[in-house]
Amino acid sequence: MLRLLDAALARGTHVLYEHVTLTASDGERVALIGENGCGKSSLFAAVLGELSLETGEIEAPAAERIAHVAQSVLETDLTALDYVMAGHAPLAAAKTELEAARASGQTMREASAIAALADLNEGLVKSQALTIMAGLGFSNSDAASKVKTFSGGWRNRLSLARALMCPADLLLLDEPTNHLDMDSLIWLEAWLKKLSCTVIIISHDREFLDRAVQTTWSVENGTIVRYAGNYSAYEQQSVEKMRLQEAAHKSYEAKAAHLRAFIERFRYKATKARQAQSRIKMLDKLEVVEPVRAMRQWRFEFTPSERTPEQLAVLENVRAGYEEHIVIDNVSMTVRAGDRIGVLGVNGAGKSTLIKTIVGALKPMSGTVLRGQGLTIGYFAQHQLESLDARDTPLDVMRRKAPLEREQTLRDHLGKFKFSGDFIEHKIGTLSGGEKARLALALIVWDKPNLLVLDEPTNHLDMATREALTVALSSFEGALILVSHDRHLIRSTCDKLVLVHEGHVEAYDGDLDDYAKLVLEHRKTVLAAERDAARSEKAALEKPGSSISRKEERRMQAQQRARIAALKKPLLAKLSKIEKEMARLTELVNGLDAKISDPDWYAAAQSEEIARITRERGEAASSLSEAEAQWLETSEAIEACDSQELAQQ
Ligand SMILES: Nc1ncnc2c1ncn2[C@@H]1O[C@H](COP(=O)(O)OP(=O)(O)OP(=O)(O)O)[C@@H](O)[C@H]1O
Ligand SMILES: [Mg+2]
Repeated sequence: MLRLLDAALARGTHVLYEHVTLTASDGERVALIGENGCGKSSLFAAVLGELSLETGEIEAPAAERIAHVAQSVLETDLTALDYVMAGHAPLAAAKTELEAARASGQTMREASAIAALADLNEGLVKSQALTIMAGLGFSNSDAASKVKTFSGGWRNRLSLARALMCPADLLLLDEPTNHLDMDSLIWLEAWLKKLSCTVIIISHDREFLDRAVQTTWSVENGTIVRYAGNYSAYEQQSVEKMRLQEAAHKSYEAKAAHLRAFIERFRYKATKARQAQSRIKMLDKLEVVEPVRAMRQWRFEFTPSERTPEQLAVLENVRAGYEEHIVIDNVSMTVRAGDRIGVLGVNGAGKSTLIKTIVGALKPMSGTVLRGQGLTIGYFAQHQLESLDARDTPLDVMRRKAPLEREQTLRDHLGKFKFSGDFIEHKIGTLSGGEKARLALALIVWDKPNLLVLDEPTNHLDMATREALTVALSSFEGALILVSHDRHLIRSTCDKLVLVHEGHVEAYDGDLDDYAKLVLEHRKTVLAAERDAARSEKAALEKPGSSISRKEERRMQAQQRARIAALKKPLLAKLSKIEKEMARLTELVNGLDAKISDPDWYAAAQSEEIARITRERGEAASSLSEAEAQWLETSEAIEACDSQELAQQ
């Protein structure tokens, strides 16, 4: 559950919103929407305790029961599977404890760490991780690849998978759909529906929100307003609210006008002075209803430089890829002035590789890439947002770009992209995702490119900015190469499609709907191939000794058994030592008891002797109960080893 009580949040001196009182209950899936920079991610920071509220309170589960998607994935040597599994906090903690226990050399501690790990059932966690990864589009072989070998988009998927692994009471997803294709989106939506925890999703993808949430929280007019229902329901209610507000405003205006007229007419007439006075009071009391503020439509445009070569880029027999890994081969294509090319291809097909080769960010392995004279490329890609220096301000970046330009011109240019006032002197590191993307667009527009090369430009952009980009691209007169999963954008801005598929790049004759079918077919073939591979692996396993992986598995099991046996041996020795001690102490206690309960001894003994014997009895009895406790603990540790042994068989 998540509860906000009269909360207010600010960044610096700027109050993002206040008087926020909202509750999201268990199992409720909530969309958090609002324009770029309105403070959605900041709310997550506040829930996670990274940012304090100005006023009010947040009631949220303890930090370890909150799962959220890390904004960036560290360079790590872990394999994808290990990285994702590490998201299961209890398992990760149990593993760390086991390592620490081993290092400490304390057998008991190690045994109980093993028992705790066994309880968590690592095998089950692993299969859950593989299910989530498959759902997010990873193939079986990806699981063993190192995280650092994945592209930015795929790393983001890994961090989403990692967050989904965590058993939590609250799941915070900040733009989870940015890097997902259609299939993975559908899978994610189904997965979220199965969860019993509270889920808050920030997204600018209305189709996804429509299917995935039951409640919408909208950041508007300096507060956050709750709407029951999904995004469409929010839109309807919000339009209805505006309609009512407009009607109420009109009725207010009419009433106020009437009262004013009455007051004007009778104010100075002695006979009507009393009535006029009462009208003045009524007018004062009349609640002001503001008119609906018309949404200002924000627009910008790309103006290409005057000189444009006829042939912008010519690729001949290009082979491109990374080190030994060839991604695309035999690519020949010409980009001409006025071309508007949408690049299609499933994830990992090599769309970004093609694009990088065209813009010159990647050298071809063989073949030639010729660029026309006077070609100016406007290149937009995810990693460019990340390569902006966080310590710079938007104005710094512009100054560096155009050192000879008057500062006012630079300020005016940034102003056109909604960077006004002191905003242009904010550090880039503090800009929201959408603000950074808008800045990248501002930089591109400044260059007056005659070829725009945009790789997933709509990620992070709010709906109004997406709309502005769509309009700007439709009226752009230069050439355009666009990679996007936003079908609406491709449809409205491209007139040619190119398909990157199985290492080839070719013109695509079909339309976008044909392409969607192709994606689904491809997905089916991949799944079928994986099923076949799994089947033949299983068959190989059933034939003893015939498979290396089976041998390897046996070897590992034997190793594990040996480790458990080695651990058990000292525990058994300890147990037998304790048992002997327990027998000795029991005998001692029984002997002393017999003495104490003998009336003859009692009568004859000196009082000091009685005191000594009772003290000895007490000490022996407490040593016995201590030994019994140790016996219990050691037996449990041995049982844990036994159950591990059983699991290995
Ligand atoms: N550390 C910071 N210092 C100062 N201002 C900040 C800081 N972090 C964010 N801001 C500003 O606070 C505002 C809210 O940022 P936030 O990241 O919460 O927006 P958002 O709603 O998530 O936007 P987007 O849709 O673009 O992701 C933005 O104007 C941003 O520039
Ligand atoms: Mg954000």
